[in-house]
Amino acid sequence: LKLAKDADAVLFGAVGDWKYDKLERQYRPEQAILGLRKHLGLFANFRPAICYEQLTHASSLKPELVAGLDILIIRELTGDIYFGQPRGRRTAVDGPFPGTDEAFDTMRYSRPEIERIAHVAFQAARQRNRKVTSVDKANVLETFQFWKDVVTEVHKDYPDVELEHMYVDNAAMQLVKAPKKFDVVVTGNMFGDILSDEAAMLTGSIGMLPSASFAQGRKGLYEPVHGTAPDIAGKDLANPIAAILSVAMMLRHSFERPDLAARIDAAVARALSEGYRTADIMQAGMKRVGTRGMGDAVLEALARAH
Ligand code: IPM
Ligand code: MG
Repeated sequence: LKLAKDADAVLFGAVGDWKYDKLERQYRPEQAILGLRKHLGLFANFRPAICYEQLTHASSLKPELVAGLDILIIRELTGDIYFGQPRGRRTAVDGPFPGTDEAFDTMRYSRPEIERIAHVAFQAARQRNRKVTSVDKANVLETFQFWKDVVTEVHKDYPDVELEHMYVDNAAMQLVKAPKKFDVVVTGNMFGDILSDEAAMLTGSIGMLPSASFAQGRKGLYEPVHGTAPDIAGKDLANPIAAILSVAMMLRHSFERPDLAARIDAAVARALSEGYRTADIMQAGMKRVGTRGMGDAVLEALARAH
């Protein structure tokens, strides 16, 4: 993880801490998570956005828009402009200001990269409501015209699943206009990064969202969608539910124990029904607790359900 120079960045999970923004890119904490994803081959990132009925009013959207929301964003995680080479800084040889400094990145996707994520999405949709929305920017970008073409080809293997294509700007709009019209959303690394934060807000708080990233086979990495929130670290404020639900996803997907996963999911729902709320999802009349208090409430619910 080439972070020895700044070891506490790794130890204390400092992704997002502005303190490290001035480090050379290779030493920034973000490189640890990006490196893990790349080196473990975790190309398929599942980010479910589920609005618990108890939190319908915690969302910034009207309750009727989010009540019962259950969508799954599948983000390609090891390609796109995040990893595309070449990238860097140089002196411009053309463009509007030749001879001046410029920076550049490369957006690219190969056919196999798109094919495998498309298969993952169609197969996931078969376990759900059999609809896939592929999000692209085919009207402007070559990379995403190709994405659209390849997803359309892969779709021929899944006639029982409905496929729709949507431009990313429209998808950003539809997510807050009529989010329940989505079932599975599949998209590239960068659009998926942005849309999954947007979808998080539909559920009330990004502190609610777990995620799983899969390589070929059953290997998975499970983590909350949120960052490390360095501004509230150590203050007993953070919502632990995303981390707890990530463990449930791990039991379901890597250990084939859907029974245990369901018990954890139910315990979280129960703690919410009993009125426990961390600051990010607090509402009038509810019981305000910290990280520990919410963890204890979920544990108690788990023990009682047993
Ligand atoms: C995420 C994060 C990461 C990303 C950052 C921390 C590198 O925003 O997992 O969504 O951009 O992928
Ligand atoms: Mg992100």
